[in-house]
Amino acid sequence: MRYDLTDDNYTTHEHDVVVIGAGGAGLRAAIAASQEGASVALVCKSMLGKAHTVMAEGGAAAALGNKDPRDNWQVHFRDTMKGGKYLNDWRMARIHAQQAPDRIRELETWGAVFDRTPKGLTSQRNFGGHTYPRLAHIGDATGLELIRTLQEKGVHMGMDVFMEFTVRRLFTKEGTVVGCFAYDRNDGSLHLFKAKSIVLATGGITRCWAVCSGSWEYTGEGHALAYWAGAELGDMEFVQFHPTGMIWPPSVKGILVTEGVRGEGGMLTNSEGERFMFDYIPEMYKDEFADTEKEALEWVDEVISGKLATKRRPPELLTRDVVAKAINSEREAGRASEHGGAYLDISWRSPEEVKKKLPGMYHQFKELAAVDITKTPMEVGPTAHYVMGGVKVDPESQESTIQGLYAAGEAATGLHGANRLGGNSLTDLIVFGKIAGECAAKRATESEGFADIDEAEIADVIAETLAPFAREDGENPAKVVEDLREMMQEKVGIIRNGSLLEEALSDLEELEARAALTSPGGSRIYNPGWHQALELSAMLDVSRMCALAALQREESRGGHTRDDFPVPDHKHWGKINSVIAKEADGSMSIEHRTYPPIDDELKALLDAEDLHEEG
Ligand code: FUM
Repeated sequence: MRYDLTDDNYTTHEHDVVVIGAGGAGLRAAIAASQEGASVALVCKSMLGKAHTVMAEGGAAAALGNKDPRDNWQVHFRDTMKGGKYLNDWRMARIHAQQAPDRIRELETWGAVFDRTPKGLTSQRNFGGHTYPRLAHIGDATGLELIRTLQEKGVHMGMDVFMEFTVRRLFTKEGTVVGCFAYDRNDGSLHLFKAKSIVLATGGITRCWAVCSGSWEYTGEGHALAYWAGAELGDMEFVQFHPTGMIWPPSVKGILVTEGVRGEGGMLTNSEGERFMFDYIPEMYKDEFADTEKEALEWVDEVISGKLATKRRPPELLTRDVVAKAINSEREAGRASEHGGAYLDISWRSPEEVKKKLPGMYHQFKELAAVDITKTPMEVGPTAHYVMGGVKVDPESQESTIQGLYAAGEAATGLHGANRLGGNSLTDLIVFGKIAGECAAKRATESEGFADIDEAEIADVIAETLAPFAREDGENPAKVVEDLREMMQEKVGIIRNGSLLEEALSDLEELEARAALTSPGGSRIYNPGWHQALELSAMLDVSRMCALAALQREESRGGHTRDDFPVPDHKHWGKINSVIAKEADGSMSIEHRTYPPIDDELKALLDAEDLHEEG
């Protein structure tokens, strides 16, 4: 059907649980809610199966202990807290570390084909910040296999899937979510979803940066929908720049180069041929990482020959925040690779091993950069990959500060603190996706019928959705999107400072004014200009959240670095998380809070000197 530009008819759907987003968290939530007997709508912006989850290539972190029996959930908990610089919600970090192994085993029973150890166990590889080889993997396509498995399981559960739908608004009544409004990106039709509970599993926001690993879907709608509806968001200053994205040729800049390369022994060097990571080992990791090439090579020998490691790990396996900043510092010091990054070399391993362990990287570089990684080093540099900030949730249920609204995966905050460990995202999705889906379904089955949704509110969101067509001769929305992404890259990037952040906030005002005048032209059918004109509202608000929280945090920690406050301020900021909300007058407010004190038993698992509690 062809809709004219002002046709405001809409179709109404009713489901106990609406899950928005169909990556790992959304699929896992939808499966769990269906298993609880709820009727489920799975609404996704892209084609089912096309999710940023596939960009977690190197593996899913779970303390199975298959490669090293010294591993257990307690060490995983400790590594996650340390990697997050202790800003994590320790309750989520505990639940995650305890439940991740079962979620991986469950995926196997659902048909996921993990790589195997010689004894036939699920294989595990090393990754940054993980003490032991912990990442269950399928070559370097782990996220893809996870999605394939969940999708196969999900489509047999009887859920209704709405592909290529963008959700524009959540409706609430007396503090409880009651539905949402979406449009179909294909034909422009309008849809009202009545729901008893909603799970936000929309992923992240990193499309707001010019160099990023995510594709077009990643514009922060989930974060913005929650914010517009009145939910609290936390930790929005913490953005993860993955150290290794492709940097050459320009057309592929940002595409992920899995951390699995370093997990398999990849070495980082600068233009002088120096293995520079030895110079960047932070004090808190000094006991764990090799400070000489000799020891690093001995560790690699032990690991490759299948022995338990006795040496300290190579510094390429430091956490992502540290490695990304090190590459940046080498560039600043004039020691960058030919195209402005660093060299990552795995060619010292046999071509057969490289092709077996990293088949995707082998083909990616061959086809996109004409580089044979079995012979030549790759060129890599930081790429915006993940946001640690998101919707604040109850750690046991994943319910947000709005009743009946749940969030899971990258859309939620808490587990990762100031910096996420690689591989923790995939198990985050399946651990907390399941919890969110179950709790959403339980709530729905206990609720009575569907609430009425105010017609005036529906008319308002329809008017807003169709408004871009009423604007003639305005700017192309794609240009505003491009300028926003360039601005965020320059002013709210890997290294920030107060004056740049102030400028960013004022630039966002200007960009907002420009966005309000954009005109996409064309019809409601397959119109990317219209989609971008609408996406801008979310991109602007999530960018503002990030810049505002970054301006307030006057220290450097994890995925937030200020060159005017270059070190962590443990005394003032060590336990403080930022919380953002929308005020009644429409303004964005920010305050700072702490999580409840950590249990003594769990505290004993952490490195006492990192906690800075002396005196
Ligand atoms: O490098 C990677 O394979 C990405 C993994 C992740 O983000 O968890």
